[in-house]
Order: sequence, then C-alpha cells, then structure tokens
Amino acid sequence: MKIDLRSDFTARPTKAMVEAMVRAAEMPSGFGLREDPTVVRLEALAAEILGKEDALFVPTCMMANQIAIHVCCRPGDVFLTEAEAHVVTSESAAASVLSGAMPRCVAAVNGAFDLDDLAAALKSGAALVLQENTHVRSGGRVVAFEHMQAIAEMARAQGVPVHLDGARIFNAATALGRPASDLAQLAETVSFNLNKGLCAPLGAILAGTSDFVNDALRVRQMFGGGWRPAGIPAAAGIVALQSMVGRLADDHRRAKRLAEKLATVDGIIVDPASTMSNIVLVRPTAMDPETLSAALEKLGVLVLPFGPSVRLVTHREIDDNAVEETLHAFRSARNGDD
Ligand SMILES: Cc1ncc(COP(=O)(O)O)c(C=O)c1O
Repeated sequence: MKIDLRSDFTARPTKAMVEAMVRAAEMPSGFGLREDPTVVRLEALAAEILGKEDALFVPTCMMANQIAIHVCCRPGDVFLTEAEAHVVTSESAAASVLSGAMPRCVAAVNGAFDLDDLAAALKSGAALVLQENTHVRSGGRVVAFEHMQAIAEMARAQGVPVHLDGARIFNAATALGRPASDLAQLAETVSFNLNKGLCAPLGAILAGTSDFVNDALRVRQMFGGGWRPAGIPAAAGIVALQSMVGRLADDHRRAKRLAEKLATVDGIIVDPASTMSNIVLVRPTAMDPETLSAALEKLGVLVLPFGPSVRLVTHREIDDNAVEETLHAFRSARNGDD
C-alpha cells in the first residue's frame, strides 16, 4: 500500500467511528434540519469544546467559511484577510460570487497579519476579519496566541467580528499547548474540519452565538448544505472530537522528524523550524516538484506538488515506520533509484 502524505483527509475513519456510524444508521433520523439526535449531540459537543453558544454541522470547511462571510457581509462589503489565506487561494472566488463581498488582503507573513496594516485597513471600514490558524499555505505554521489576541482586540475596538478559519484549529491548539476554546474566544465565529487530522470521513463545524447559528442555518440551506439524514457522518464526528484530538501531537512529532531528517538530504531544502504542526514543505533544487512527486510515487510515497515545493502532511496512518520509509524514498528519489 502506498504511503499517502498528500493530505490529512486521506486518513480513514477508525473502527470506533465505523461502529458509531453503523449504530447511527439504525436510529431514526427525524425530518427537521436540526432534529437528528446524533447531529444534535455533535453540534452541542462542538459548541461546548469551543466555548460557543451553538454550532452547526456542515459538509465542508469551505462551506462553513462562506456561510460566515455571507452572514457578516452585505454585497459591496470588504472583509480583511491575507493573500495566502485558503479563502483567497482555494475557494474559487466564492465570497465575491455568493456574497458580493470583496477580500482585501492585508500584508502578512506566514498567515500572521501585519498589525499596522490591519489597523489601517480596519480604519477604512470592513465587515469582517478572517484569520486562518494553522495556516496551510505556509506549511501549517501556527499564528501565535498573542498575535491572535492583538487582532481580536483591534477588530473588537472597531466593532468588527473575527472569523477564525480553523480548519486545523486542534493542530494549532496542540502546537500552542492550549485548549481550542482559548483560540475560539478570540473570534466571534469559528470553522473547523472533522475530516482532517481528526479522521472523520467527512464534515465540518461552524460555531458562534445562537443568533449567528440561526442565520447560518438559513444560509447553509441557501448554499445547498441542508444535508439530511446526516446522523451517520455526525456519529463519526462525535468519536473524532472525543478521541482524536489527543493524538495530534504524534502527527506533529512525526512531521518534525521528517523535516529534521529531510533537511540533511542533498537536492532539497527543508526548514525544520517552519514545521510547526503536521505539514512539511520540501523544496527540490535539482528537479521540479512534479518530477520529484512522480519519482516518489514510483517508490510508493504520495506527496503533493505545492507551488515550488512538495507537501507532506502527517496523519493517523503515518506511523514511525511510514516516516522511515518516506525518508528512504526521498534519498532514493534523489539518486534516481527506482
Ligand atoms: C485552512 C483551510 N480552510 C478551509 C479548507 C477547506 O476545507 P474543505 O475541504 O472541508 O472545504 C481547507 C482545506 O484544506 C484549509 O486548509
């Protein structure tokens, strides 16, 4: 079997998740949008973990982000983010098309806004600040808690809500040594994936105040996300929240080992200090990322060409053996071995 490091969403659900899904499949789901008892339990658990009044189960984190933008922005409004945010690079201009909202990109380094630039942008008027943590394009870098605090203070002083695109909020929380609720309290609304490091088969959460979630429910329907019956994926989501957060530290440790060892291999550049969570960016110097990725695939290792680099994401199925085999494959790929 191949070692798949392209994304953490490639990790399959655990046996406990599969069993929970089977039990949920046997329960009546009800009819209403928030009637399914398993969905109700997942949403309550997610809200509790984040310290928010309410939460909504949605199919994808992109949908969660777009619902938050739609609830907070009127057509013609500006929301503040940065050029490397997922919402700018990878959400197909959805905010402009679905909400008529324009992203204004504040200067930023590795996902952390330049605070002077943010202050200036807030002064010229914005309906929302959208912050991402961990920051995927920079290789899962973690925005410091104090930096998030500063952003929240500045936005709140202007009466502007903050949305945290926390697709990997539990990785950020793990890296910062804090509960996810510490990060969530620095944002009015929060989105996260259940199907990345937490290994659920699909689904995401959008959390905020009860009023916000009432609005979000209407917008979710408008965006085609009124999925029913959703108890089966929700059951896996509950297991994910209850049992998978604690193991993310292992993913981080393995990503760090990959980065440190790959940093010693010729023909590629890796900065172990920038590997702060479960993502490693490896920049080949002697070949292009696609060629390196194809060479690794022949050796049984799948990585993702990602700009000038290839991306490796650790997850539950990447154990210590897989790390060693990956290191071996990189050394062989460099030598042109087959
Ligand atoms: C930071 C960030 N936000 C949002 C998303 C979108 O998640 P989904 O694929 O569930 O829409 C991703 C996916 O990789 C992400 O990394």
